[in-house]
Amino acid sequence: MNKANIDIIILDEIDSTNNEAQRVLDYKSNFPLWIIADEQTSGRGRKNRYWFSQKGNFMGTFVLEHKIQKQYIPHLSFVVSLALRETIEDFNKDDKEIFLKWPNDIIIKNSKCAGILIESLKSNSDKEYLAIGIGVNLINHPSKSSFKATSLKKEFNTNISRDEFLNKLNKNLLAKINFWKMGENFPKILDDWKRFAYKINENISMLLPTGEKIDGKFSDLNNEGGLILSYNGENRVFYAAEIIEELKLV
Ligand code: BTN
Repeated sequence: MNKANIDIIILDEIDSTNNEAQRVLDYKSNFPLWIIADEQTSGRGRKNRYWFSQKGNFMGTFVLEHKIQKQYIPHLSFVVSLALRETIEDFNKDDKEIFLKWPNDIIIKNSKCAGILIESLKSNSDKEYLAIGIGVNLINHPSKSSFKATSLKKEFNTNISRDEFLNKLNKNLLAKINFWKMGENFPKILDDWKRFAYKINENISMLLPTGEKIDGKFSDLNNEGGLILSYNGENRVFYAAEIIEELKLV
């Protein structure tokens, strides 16, 4: 996937670029491609949360036709978040620390500045497609959110142009997907990811899909990228939970 000239669809306003990704399958045949929106009226985050989508921020979906084995699709959370982190690092003139919050949020000063929503698309053919939705708070961030938010403008004290950001992200994303080699290099991706892991070796609070909250030490990732939490003298591996802010001391 070394295509330099990838189609970019730029829209003034759309419900969600991930929703548009589903619709473009009806009339586009060359992939990958980007769908970028100035504004989203129903921007979605993970767990169907609202995603703050004001003009000036980056809202885009990379639509990928793929032959990735099903069990390797979760690798993309790590591959894409590393590429996104690298892109943000390019604008980091003050050398602030940029962390990766498991599995794929970008954190600066304990606040989230970017998130990723990867969804499988429905296809009428035997081809398979993924929508890799990426939201970055370039200029604005919500004042209320499930995890404290920030923007790159606030952290780096600079206005970043959406199009410049897209150019760099596109390059980094293609390079990282190539490097991953459909799973062959996932151990290297994970090693790299762990260098930036938010709160690794620290006590964290996790929210489980059941709604249960547990506290423990984020001790490592397993070979599939599952989060290993140590608590009550045992290790448990999580694939679908999330790290939340409230930490009761353990
Ligand atoms: C998250 O952190 O919960 C994921 C946020 C993903 C937001 C992006 S913005 C572009 C794309 N379109 C959407 O509706 N969501 C993703």
